[in-house]
Order: sequence, then C-alpha cells, then structure tokens
Amino acid sequence: MRIACLGGGPAGLYFAISMKLRDPRHEVDVFERNRADDTFGWGVVFSDQTVENLMANDPVSGAAIRDEFAHWDDIDVHIHDETIRSSGHGFIGIGRKRLLAILQERARELGVALHFEHEASPRLEDWSGYDLVIAADGANSRIREAYAEHFGIDVQVRRNRFFWFGTTKAFEAFTFAFEETEAGWVWAHAYRFDAGLSTFIVEMAPETWSRLGLDRMDQDAAIALCERIFASYLDGHPLVSNARHLPGPQAWLRFRRIVCDRWSYRNLILLGDAAHTAHFSIGSGTKLALEDAIKLAEVLNRPGLSREAALEEYQAERNLEVLKLQNSARNSTEWFETLDRYLGFEPIQFAYSLLTRSQRVSHENLRLRDKGWLEGVERWFQSKAAGTPVNDPAPPMFAPFRLRSMRLDNRVVVSPMATYSASDGIPNDFHLVHYGTRAQGGAGLLYTEMTCVSAEGRISPGCPGLYAPEHVAAWKRVVDFVHANSRARFCLQLGHSGPKGSTKVGWEGYDVPLESGNWPVMAASDVPWSPANQVPRPMTRADMDLVVEQFVAAVRMGEEAGFDMVELHAAHGYLLSSFITPLTNRRTDDYGGSLENRLRFPLEVFRAMRAAWPGEKPMSVRISANDWMGEAGVTPDEAVRIGRAFADAGADLIDVSAGQTWADSRPVYGRMFQTPFSDQVRNEGGVATIAVGNIYEPDHVNSILAAGRADLVALARPHLVDPMWTLRAAAARNYRGVHVPPPYLGGMAQLARNLAREAEMRA
Ligand SMILES: Cc1cc2nc3c(=O)[nH]c(=O)nc-3n(C[C@H](O)[C@H](O)[C@H](O)COP(=O)(O)OP(=O)(O)OC[C@H]3O[C@@H](n4cnc5c(N)ncnc54)[C@H](O)[C@@H]3O)c2cc1C
Ligand SMILES: Cc1cc2nc3c(=O)[nH]c(=O)nc-3n(C[C@H](O)[C@H](O)[C@H](O)COP(=O)(O)O)c2cc1C
Repeated sequence: MRIACLGGGPAGLYFAISMKLRDPRHEVDVFERNRADDTFGWGVVFSDQTVENLMANDPVSGAAIRDEFAHWDDIDVHIHDETIRSSGHGFIGIGRKRLLAILQERARELGVALHFEHEASPRLEDWSGYDLVIAADGANSRIREAYAEHFGIDVQVRRNRFFWFGTTKAFEAFTFAFEETEAGWVWAHAYRFDAGLSTFIVEMAPETWSRLGLDRMDQDAAIALCERIFASYLDGHPLVSNARHLPGPQAWLRFRRIVCDRWSYRNLILLGDAAHTAHFSIGSGTKLALEDAIKLAEVLNRPGLSREAALEEYQAERNLEVLKLQNSARNSTEWFETLDRYLGFEPIQFAYSLLTRSQRVSHENLRLRDKGWLEGVERWFQSKAAGTPVNDPAPPMFAPFRLRSMRLDNRVVVSPMATYSASDGIPNDFHLVHYGTRAQGGAGLLYTEMTCVSAEGRISPGCPGLYAPEHVAAWKRVVDFVHANSRARFCLQLGHSGPKGSTKVGWEGYDVPLESGNWPVMAASDVPWSPANQVPRPMTRADMDLVVEQFVAAVRMGEEAGFDMVELHAAHGYLLSSFITPLTNRRTDDYGGSLENRLRFPLEVFRAMRAAWPGEKPMSVRISANDWMGEAGVTPDEAVRIGRAFADAGADLIDVSAGQTWADSRPVYGRMFQTPFSDQVRNEGGVATIAVGNIYEPDHVNSILAAGRADLVALARPHLVDPMWTLRAAAARNYRGVHVPPPYLGGMAQLARNLAREAEMRA
C-alpha cells in the first residue's frame, strides 16, 4: 500500500513504523510541517502498561524509549503551606523531543520517507497517488476540518487557561503546587522527564488569568510573574517557553476536548489527537495516539479483512478505550475547574480528592500504591468522625456520623425502596421481615420506602401510609423490632405521589395507571407524567393547606411510631418535585416561575414538618439534583440552591438523587453516576449529603466518603438481593467494629476467614 501520513507527531510516526514492521513492502511517507527537531511541549508521561504495549509492538523503539525514561513513584501535593506526599504511583516520563527523535530514527531505519517542513494539503485530491491518507496532524487537524461534515465532530473548549512551560529544575516527585495570589488560585502540574528538565504546566481559572493581567501581558512578563508565584518550588530555575512564536496571551491555551462519531471517510483515516483528545491532567494523549497507531496497523494488515471491516474494527475497539479515558479525563478536568469546592478541605483530604479525581483511582488502588499513606487517611477520617484521635485505621464507611442527637454506627444507608406490599396503607409481616433483615445487615441508617401522607398520596394500592391510627401501630411494630434487634437508626421517608399517583405496583408496570379504581391526582400544574397518565388537577391554596396538614399529621404519627429521623421526599416527579422542576410547574402565581417561587410550597411543607418533629431528631430532604434536560429543567447548579434552601429551613442532610421528573429525559448512567451532584451540593452548598445511584462496592463507598463527596452513601438495589451487604463488607476487611446480631457471629467469623484466604490466594 502507498500511505501518506499527514503529521509527524507520535501518532503519524508510530503508525508508519507499525505498518513497515508488519509489511516492509508498504510505502509510507510522513509529511511534517515543522523541522525534525522543533516541537511544542516538553515531557509526556506514560504508565508501565503503555510501555509493555510498545515493547510488544516494536521491541527496538520500545527499548530505546524505555531506556530514556525518567521514573518516579511519588506525588507531592502542596497546598496551604503543607506538602502531602504519597508513593507507589509508578510514572514514567520522557521528553517529547526525545520521543520524536527515537521514532524518527526508527522510522528511517525501516524505510519510511520523512518529509519535514512540508505543509500537508488538506484536500484529498492532492493525495490521489496514495491508497490511504492518515490524518495524524493533531487536535487542530486541517484535513479533518476540511471534511468535517463526514466525521460528526464535537469540540468542547474548556474554561481554564494553561501554559505548557519547561524548567531546568528537576522535580523529584510528580508535583502539584497550589498557590493563592491576590487574584485567585494558580497551580502547577510539574514532573521531571529528563535528568535536568521538567514539564511545568501552569493552570488557572479564566477570571484569575484576567485579574492577573495575563490576558494583556507579553510572554516575558508572564514568565516573570509565574516564576515569582512559584519561586519556592523553582529554586531559582527559570521557566522556559517554546511557544515563542505566539503573542503572550495566545500562548495561554484552553483545552479543546474533541470527539468524532466517525474516524474515517473514504480513504482518509483519523489517528491520535485528530480523532480525539484527553485532558493533559490525566496524561494519556500520547498513549492513545500510539495505541491507535498499533491497532490501525494491525487491522489493515490482517489477512482476509476488507478495508471497510478493518476500519470498523479499528474505530469500534479504540473508541471504547478512548471513551473510557475521555470520561476519566472529563472528571479530572472538572475537578480543576471546580477547585474552589475543595480548597476548604484539610490538606490530607484535598490530596486524596486530587488523587481520586478521575475516578480511575479508588480507595483500594491507593492502598495498593501506598498502604501507609492510605492508613494515615483512614486514621484522619476516623479521628475527625470521632472527634478524638483514633489510632486504628478503618475504612471510612465504618466511621460514625452524628446528626443532632442521632448517632449512626457507620456511613452506609439502605436507600428508600418501594416494596408495594401493603394494603390500605398498612405495613404487614412482609415489612417486618424486609426491614428487620436489612436492619440486621449492618447498615448504619435504614430508610422506609416512600410512606404516603394520605390514601390519594399513594403511588399504588401497595404503598404504605401514615394517615390512620392502624398505620401507626403497624409501623411501631417494625420500628420496635429494628431497635430491639439491630443498631441501625430508622428513617421514615414521607411523600405524596402527586401526578405519579394511582398507578400499578412496580412489577406490573412502573407509572402505569390502574386498570380500575383510579383516584384523581393533583400536581403543581396540569402536566401529566405521560400521555397514558391522568392529567392532574393544579393545586389550589386549599389543597396546599390540606397537604401541609397531612404531612404534619404524618410526622406526628412517625414520632409516635418511634422513628429516629424523617425525610421529606421532594424528588422523582412526585407532588413536591412537580413544584420544583420548571418542566412540570407552569404556574403563574407565587408558586411558579423563579426557583424561589417553585420552592415556596415544598419549603412551607418542610418548615411545618420541622416544627412538628422533635428538635433533637434530624431531618433530611430527597431532591432530584438534575432533571437531565439541560437548562430546561433543574440543573446541578440549581440543585445547590435547592439544597441550601432546605438546609436554611432546618434540613440536616440532603439526599441527592436525580431524574425521574420528566418521562423523556436522558440520564447519563454509569458507576456512581449521581455522586458528582452530591459532591457539588455538599461542597458548594455547605450542607451534609447522601450520595446514591449505582454505587455497589465497598470501594466506591470508601472513595466517595474519604474524598468528601458525600457524608453518607446509600445503596438501594444491592440491598434488595443482599440485606447483609454491610456485614459482608466488614468481613472482607476483617473489620471487627461492626455490630453483628449475636446469633450470626459464627457466620461472620467464617466469612471473614474465607475471604481472607481467598484474598491471600489471589495475591
Ligand atoms: C499541555 C499539554 C500537556 C500534555 N501532556 C501529555 C502527557 O503528559 N502525556 C501524554 O501522553 N500526552 C500529553 N499531551 C497530549 C499529547 O501532546 C498529544 O495527545 C499527542 O501529542 C498526540 O499525538 P498526535 O501525533 O496525534 O498529535 P500531535 O503530537 O499534535 O502531532 C501532530 C503533528 O502534526 C503536525 N501538523 C499539523 N498540521 C500539519 C500540516 N498541515 N502539515 C504537516 N504537519 C502538520 C504538527 O506539527 C505535529 O507535529 C499533552 C498535551 C498538552 C497540550
Ligand atoms: C424497587 C425500587 C423502589 C424505589 N422506591 C423508592 C422510594 O420509595 N423512595 C425513593 O426516594 N426512592 C426510591 N427508589 C430509588 C432508590 O432509593 C435509589 O435512589 C435508586 O434505586 C438508585 O440507587 P441504586 O443504584 O443503589 O439502586 C427506588 C428504587 C428501586 C429500585
């Protein structure tokens, strides 16, 4: 094949090498606009895994690269005049210039024709003599832009400004240095890639950049300013720019995140940064470019594979890897963009939050990297929770938590889950066994399902209520069992179904109206949940008064039944949620329009409940922190204000759920997918939170808690099939502090032994 590679960066060169290795008969030309030895940027970092991939593909260049690597294990985080050092991170750095020189030499050796100072044409007709044209011309690919409509390109320009400097100061550890200036916070990502050279990327929010005058400053002045800010790290070494051709302000870049739906068009194939980019803070762009090159060469040379099939496989396989990394990169980018949230953390938690920012590194990963450091974090967490120094490290999930006079043994919550098993609102033996078992399973806090404040406020005929004396007695039996047979505290979730009421029990069809016997439903406005559901009656002031009374009566009954805590359900499209989301609240009176108005009635209900509930007992509110409908619905930014408003009205905790407020919304599911909203509500709103949503491993729970993304962590579906989830998690770590019902002690000891033996065998 005759192949033209447009661009002689890592992607273009390595693809050329990989093609020649597989079939020396290929004719490959690489066209690079720069000279052989001038390049932007300084060093790049890899993981050990990437090096293994390179060695497997081409041991010659792989070994040359490996021999030049600067290795380091430590990460130093400098914040608030403290340095937090953790180890075991295993990074490898190499100068971009050196990497390119090795690749150029190897390409020449294999017979690749390299053409430097050659501006490649972005017109396919100029490449008609070639079978394949490879767009390896980087993030700003001209040829990709020329055929943009065929690639489905999505470019997101991120907000922070950064400058990729080099310095002769050799950093011993990968260094994150955060410095406060009079204009705001400025930070550096620095790492050594050569005996006497380091990369030093300076980053800041755009407001800080303008306030510092960098939007008007030439490069010499900008460098002098950055050298002053980071003087205590640079030890007199200069910062050096190799973007001298740009006017000062333009050398400060904004990261462009690029995603392409399709990676080829006719015989033009996108490779490396031309196809996708990943934020520099996770250091994976070069790795992706090299691994793309390997894969593309492999499929193009596989016998019997047509070009179409080869390109399909190339994109399918690489895209998966790229999406995973872009996801992590997005988390990491956002962490730096929302840095203000974490600046109030103590340095050790700030460092933990930084290290786990991409969600690729978890609590247990950190234990593998640096056990001593992680145990220090665990001791710190336990000491903070206990209010007194604790010497034994224990997983954060087993730290106690206090809300008013209620003390929880640990941070695991059995999330509210409708069981649709009551009749006439009365909980029965099913509830006794269901809640009793889950209470005995070790979680610190157990929730009831949504318990309804009136018969019409039920979702289905199977929902329990608290609106009649028989309900109190039946709930009291369950509460008494929980208190007598476990250490779990029991929270009553109270709600009114509003527009989503009068439907079948869950397993007969979620939100599907009853076949017969429907009761009328009401909501903020006459917006039905779906075309199949009833059109609700917009609530009148008299309706509101009645509902407030019903919530207050239910709270009093909850106290009589002996519950430890009450949660107001203001999420998931039910009555109060129908007021909060603008999608369903179309009112033009004092209860519609602005967020303040939309919150007026839910806050009125909450305040009345708070006044009726004993002052020493805590209350929470469940909210949908994202309607997943963009600016048309509640956004996470608005959720911060919603959480804050309930906290100001006396809520001790915000239970941060999301969605289920609009039938056509498109949630972005994934592991821990709602946790970012808890993080935002907690750390921007200054209120304690529960995180919930596809959290299923103890490692998730510990990572969320230690990083300060929530105060408590709720699991719903995992508890349906495994009521003993918390006991199992304790056994896995051989943690003895959890309360085990005495009849089950033998089982717990055996489980701990077996799990320890299995872990040993795996190790
Ligand atoms: C600040 C910063 C820090 C980074 N840190 C890391 C890191 O630590 N680790 C990591 O793995 N990655 C890092 N990256 C990303 C990394 O630089 C890229 O992902 C990687 O270089 C992609 O390789 P590529 O060959 O696809 O593109 P590029 O390296 O951009 O190469 C494209 C080449 O094409 C040439 N070119 C462009 N247009 C034309 C044309 N019309 N004609 C001829 N030639 C042309 C360019 O001159 C260039 O040489 C970082 C990026 C930035 C911006
Ligand atoms: C069967 C079932 C019933 C639920 N019922 C309620 C409920 O009554 N009240 C509530 O606030 N959330 C309810 N939820 C939502 C859960 O509390 C939780 O937020 C959601 O399932 C995500 O957590 P998970 O991924 O751990 O399951 C229910 C979820 C399930 C699966």
